[in-house]
Amino acid sequence: TQRTLVLVKPDGVQRGLTGQILARIEAKGYTLAELKRVTATREVLEQHYAEHQGKPFFEPLVEFMMSGPVVAAVVEGDRVIEGFRSLAGATEPTTAAPGTIRGDLGRDWGEKVQKNLVHGSDSPESAEREIGIWFG
Ligand code: GTP
Ligand code: MG
Repeated sequence: TQRTLVLVKPDGVQRGLTGQILARIEAKGYTLAELKRVTATREVLEQHYAEHQGKPFFEPLVEFMMSGPVVAAVVEGDRVIEGFRSLAGATEPTTAAPGTIRGDLGRDWGEKVQKNLVHGSDSPESAEREIGIWFG
């Protein structure tokens, strides 16, 4: 089995979509092994998004991620890293495929940040690193 770190980002929590998003994860057959609602600190986010340090969207992204609570989850299942990213859809919600979380529930809001509802780890190494950051 495999684990991934999923975040319902502040836009998802604020819009009241946490339940729908978690329901899609469970309906797919994955297990919610850990779950918590938390307002992230800059320190946590700078670690979480270390790979994006220096990019033009880094600071707006960190500010957005601190703007309200997120729901963090450890999700388990065979090939869940790939499976959740497929469920989430492409990064840009405007063009993410219908049927995906971002495609069905997201759109552009005319801002610098891609408010795209969810985060999912992109590799086993990222997953273990990110689970350590959010769940210790
Ligand atoms: P995550 O699951 O959130 O990691 O999505 P991802 O892997 O599809 O995106 P990536 O790791 O490349 O970027 C992390 C986050 O930064 C994205 O989810 C967006 O919110 C934001 N982001 C990424 N690329 C851009 C960009 O080119 N412009 C802007 N404004 N935001 C971006
Ligand atoms: Mg990513």
